[in-house]
Amino acid sequence: MAKLAKLDDIVSLCKRRGFIFQSSEIYGGLASCYDYGPLGVELKRNIRNAWWKHVVQMRDDVVGLDCSILMHPMAWKASGHADKFADLVTVCRKCGTRSRVDHLQDHQGSVEEHTEHIDIEAVQSKAAELSRKVCPACGTVGQFGEPMAFRLMFETRMGANVEDTMTLFLRPETAQGIFVNFRNVLDSTRVKIPFGIAQIGKSFRNEVTTKAFIFRTREFEQAELEFFCKPGTDEEWFEHWKQERFNWYINLGIRKENLRFREHAKDELAHYAKACVDIEYKFPFGSGDWQELEGIANRTDFDLRQHQRGIRTMNEWYDKKGDLTKITLKEEAEDYLKGPLAYFDEETRERYIPYVIEPSAGIDRSMLAFLVDAYDEEEVRGEQRNLLRFHPALAPIKAGIFPLVKKDGMPEIAMNIYQDLKRYFPVFYDEKGAIGRRYRRQDEAGTPFCVTVDGQTKEDNTVTIRHRDSMEQVRVPLDQVKSYLRDKLDL
Ligand code: GLY
Repeated sequence: MAKLAKLDDIVSLCKRRGFIFQSSEIYGGLASCYDYGPLGVELKRNIRNAWWKHVVQMRDDVVGLDCSILMHPMAWKASGHADKFADLVTVCRKCGTRSRVDHLQDHQGSVEEHTEHIDIEAVQSKAAELSRKVCPACGTVGQFGEPMAFRLMFETRMGANVEDTMTLFLRPETAQGIFVNFRNVLDSTRVKIPFGIAQIGKSFRNEVTTKAFIFRTREFEQAELEFFCKPGTDEEWFEHWKQERFNWYINLGIRKENLRFREHAKDELAHYAKACVDIEYKFPFGSGDWQELEGIANRTDFDLRQHQRGIRTMNEWYDKKGDLTKITLKEEAEDYLKGPLAYFDEETRERYIPYVIEPSAGIDRSMLAFLVDAYDEEEVRGEQRNLLRFHPALAPIKAGIFPLVKKDGMPEIAMNIYQDLKRYFPVFYDEKGAIGRRYRRQDEAGTPFCVTVDGQTKEDNTVTIRHRDSMEQVRVPLDQVKSYLRDKLDL
């Protein structure tokens, strides 16, 4: 199976076939920002829908949510992001390049790949390590300035009047919108623990270094589930979601040998997590091939507890400018169970703050993995055929509809098939050029089937249906085309 060996190959395929374009390209482009073209927008929506189907629709214990990107600033103070969600950066004294400390290579060549969640007060402890690091831009060893915390959240301003303008953050994760709505969901539905709340949406991080096309961008889309469970059952649910999410990628066609789990080391854990495992994909290019597609974290009761403290202390916080920790843990232990984010189990009459297991997937980087894994090249009768072997659920177009030639009533019959099928799933009508070229275009778009009306159609009311992967053609009665395709597409 041929692979896309270079990142440039996938970038050019994506541009040529309308999957992904550089943002603002006619103005020279905006770094790390991308636009999804006509095929890309369909592929991306199909990935979202497949996630939603697996995580929400097919389960009885998960409900959905769609929260605003802008949230009350107190939410980010309470969650810890305002103080801790930062990268440690340093500037090379020789060439002036700014780098992430955890991305610097040792003089001897080893790479640390680490946390985005650092304690701003502890930044100095990293300084000693810098003496043996190599600048990635100019190669100088150990000439770095003091490490500094670089906050990852984008700021924006809300309000038209100078006197009441407020500084807000663009959310760096969708998860917090779920936590702050925990009570609303409990009060408006019949969910009982264990249950989850799922959300798909844009998040923003002002990354110091972006990476590999749509792999790490500053604006990106997340699919997150916060699964609430009773403390003590969290490790069991952690295992459950690890397997569920791993299988999701496999069931959508990613080859098993290209996926693996990687557990986070203790010093790499996010500030809210007790444990975390990444599902990684083996990209055939880039700096280090295995890269994270999704993280599954045990967030314990950290977030609900923090918001409980946040809402209790908000007025005081505003008065005294920002120190949540003055509510001591002892005081909190005495009454946090009375707060609105505590859960009361009516059967056992117990009250507790639930633990949370969080599978958090990147939609854009999953899309890159699905594209790369589906790509194939083969030689057919002395010509190269490029194809995307997408799972039918992900294919942007489900079937191409063609008249063999533009005469003898064939276009009219093909157009009727097209008009009928497009009510059920995305199809594409094409009557231009040689039939072989039309098949090749659909192969490269990842279209699993092509329906062709030919001379025999008028005689016996059958058409050919060509399978993308095998190129096999079968004759199917006209009145069974829809059911044949729906069956094969599982729609
Ligand atoms: N909510 C987890 C993350 O954004 O990484």
